[in-house]
Amino acid sequence: MKVIVLENAAQIGEELGKFYVDFINENPSCVLGLATGATPVPTYNYITKAYADGKVSFKNVSTFNLDEYCDLPKDNKNSYYTFMFQNLFSHVDIDPANVGFLDGNVTDYDAESKRYAEAIKAKGGIDVQLLGIGHNGHIAFNEPADEFTDEAFRVTLSESTINANSIYFDDAPMPRYAMTMGIGSIMRSKKIVLVATGAGKAQAIKGMIEGEVTPQLPASILQNHDDVVVYLDKDAASLLTK
Ligand code: F6R
Repeated sequence: MKVIVLENAAQIGEELGKFYVDFINENPSCVLGLATGATPVPTYNYITKAYADGKVSFKNVSTFNLDEYCDLPKDNKNSYYTFMFQNLFSHVDIDPANVGFLDGNVTDYDAESKRYAEAIKAKGGIDVQLLGIGHNGHIAFNEPADEFTDEAFRVTLSESTINANSIYFDDAPMPRYAMTMGIGSIMRSKKIVLVATGAGKAQAIKGMIEGEVTPQLPASILQNHDDVVVYLDKDAASLLTK
């Protein structure tokens, strides 16, 4: 794992935003795995500004998002689908047909998992997967568990995740389930970029980088991938000793 520590979230947004602009210009038909949540927003802001300035085009880019809530309409203000259009897709020239999302409202979760795996495979796999990390070490919505998962599945969200994300659900109860890419799907990405900011992520980051590889801290599996770059601000890096 390559670890890059920068001053703050804004600096990470700029560095990583530049990385994406260069990567897309060098690989105009690339396949990007994308994340939601607060962490990637500065990066998405950098990219949308670069697009407005004519420095990058998403015309031939394809994307797959990590996860989506179950039992929440796709057009709900809190769906991850809505989040991605508000923060990125509506501001760039991506073809909506090239936007890949798990459907959290299906009844056959296995069929949905297979559909997503096949859609990713048909595009040649994910070139760069962007990840955040939960306070409990989750990546996508792979919560601490007894075993690592493989393909997408329906997950019961943990109390930690519900506590962290219920702030967005001011007028309705937060969903208790989500469809998430599995650990295997994430690990098959050619390159992985993980971002963490803030002291609240420091413990999970220490476990991910310096702890043992265990499904109890799902992000620790990234130690077994040979192309992972981790962007941290000083607070998220504050417990690292090596
Ligand atoms: C979001 C996702 C989650 C988040 C994580 C951190 O698509 O997969 O793993 O990356 O919960 O969320 P924030 O960035 O809001 O702290």
